[in-house]
Amino acid sequence: MGWKWQGRWRGLALGVEHRKLGSGAGNTLRVLSPEGDREWLRFDCFDQNPHWHLDPTGRDEVQPLDERGDIISEVFVRLESESVALLERAGANPAAIEGLLRAEGVEGQPESDALRDAERALRHRPAILDELDIRVLRNRRSEKWHTYPPDILPAWVAEMDFPVAAPIQAELRRFTESGDVGYPIALADTGLPGVFCERMHERFGWNPDPQRVEILSEVVQGLYLAIEAFSKPGQGVAVQTPIYPPFLKAIRDTGRRLQEKRMEAAGDRLEFDFDGLADAIDGDTPILFFCNPHNPSGRVFSRAELERIAAIVTENDLVVVSDEIHADLLFDRRQHIPLATLGPEIARRTLTLTSASKAFNTPGLRCAIAHFGDAALQRRFNSVVPRPIRGGLGLFGLHASIAAWRWAQPWLDEVCPYLQQNRDFAERALSERIPEIRFHRPEATYLAWLDCRPLGLTGSPAAHFMRHGHVALSDGRIFGGDSEGHVRLNFATSRPILREVIDRMAKALGR
Ligand SMILES: Cc1ncc(COP(=O)(O)O)c(C=O)c1O
Repeated sequence: MGWKWQGRWRGLALGVEHRKLGSGAGNTLRVLSPEGDREWLRFDCFDQNPHWHLDPTGRDEVQPLDERGDIISEVFVRLESESVALLERAGANPAAIEGLLRAEGVEGQPESDALRDAERALRHRPAILDELDIRVLRNRRSEKWHTYPPDILPAWVAEMDFPVAAPIQAELRRFTESGDVGYPIALADTGLPGVFCERMHERFGWNPDPQRVEILSEVVQGLYLAIEAFSKPGQGVAVQTPIYPPFLKAIRDTGRRLQEKRMEAAGDRLEFDFDGLADAIDGDTPILFFCNPHNPSGRVFSRAELERIAAIVTENDLVVVSDEIHADLLFDRRQHIPLATLGPEIARRTLTLTSASKAFNTPGLRCAIAHFGDAALQRRFNSVVPRPIRGGLGLFGLHASIAAWRWAQPWLDEVCPYLQQNRDFAERALSERIPEIRFHRPEATYLAWLDCRPLGLTGSPAAHFMRHGHVALSDGRIFGGDSEGHVRLNFATSRPILREVIDRMAKALGR
């Protein structure tokens, strides 16, 4: 048994549980009487021979689920369209059937939410977090695991070591197993813009407009297109540093001027210097690049801080490109606030860039979202290059994003607390083993920004840890803003591997 979910739908009790069976595993959905004392339907969505039972504890009629399609969709189609007839056949009492017919939401929970939660539970499999096999990881072909030789333990580029959520795996498997890899349908028809908007509403109370959505291959593509659309060569792009390196590269590659303001260390976190940022913006700066939650500091900006950003944007008549790709990876019960929700004036100047790929760990599938607060902004963006030059998108990225946002939240609900514990573990272990390192405790992301200057190493600490500890961290210098002496640690791995990373760092210093 193990993981469980319970809820109510039209007065009935629903229960989902994860079951391990002799040769496989699967989830079961039980449909029970309102009191929960009598089981009328049971859907066994097993890896092998999935089936369902009518009146499982009585006359027990068993029918197969159709493995040629999506068996979980089949379960919910049956529930929604046939539940009255099925309960009658199962011998349910008239009062329960009456309740079904009235179709009332229970305790204020809308009907659709109950079934959506049940569907998410049925598609969920417990996340694999603590039991990662290093040999399997070493066979990965991703950048993180492929760039360095096998004796180097990688803790650098921002991808997680955890296998992706079951609904995403199932979606990818369905395409490969059935050879369903023909030309994709038009992007707008995939349903992804609508799913993105639903997700933003559900998670952040934001109501973006599906018409204002563009689907890109990656967030970084959006940065380049935004620069081309909203500025001319030689003009300035303002940014707070240190920052995710492609922000700086995009400005350099396109011949724009970097107008940089450094964040300041305050206690165990970096703070924005808003006055400094406003001063850094000259009359020829049309764009602000903004990153919230912030990579590499892990800061989550408060409403008050976002209001100051919004004021700088409007007072200087800027377009703001708000990269919110880490918005689902918040700790300590923090709440992400999309910049575009601060009011109509800032919304119409905001291009929000995001993707399911960071929180759901699918960066290799290449799919991202650009949302425009204003139609004119979107038109300018789309006029930079003919669309085919932006490249087509693969089915995997599109449908993995849909599966992630629709169904994979229970997986993320397991991953985020684990990441938070990893953050706390790393902070504790570093303070015990290498107390000189200043740890900026991340409020989000799975990246920790470490100030190693007090170690007094000559040259780059990242190079030192690599040479003497055989551990790969990101070199602070590539994040701009005078970040020499810093490294960025990726702690999205199992606790045993994280312990080994910190061990190697300590050994590199002879500890
Ligand atoms: C802030 C930020 N933006 C964008 C990206 C990359 O997004 P994509 O792979 O969609 O370009 C990352 C990856 O780590 C990131 O941290």
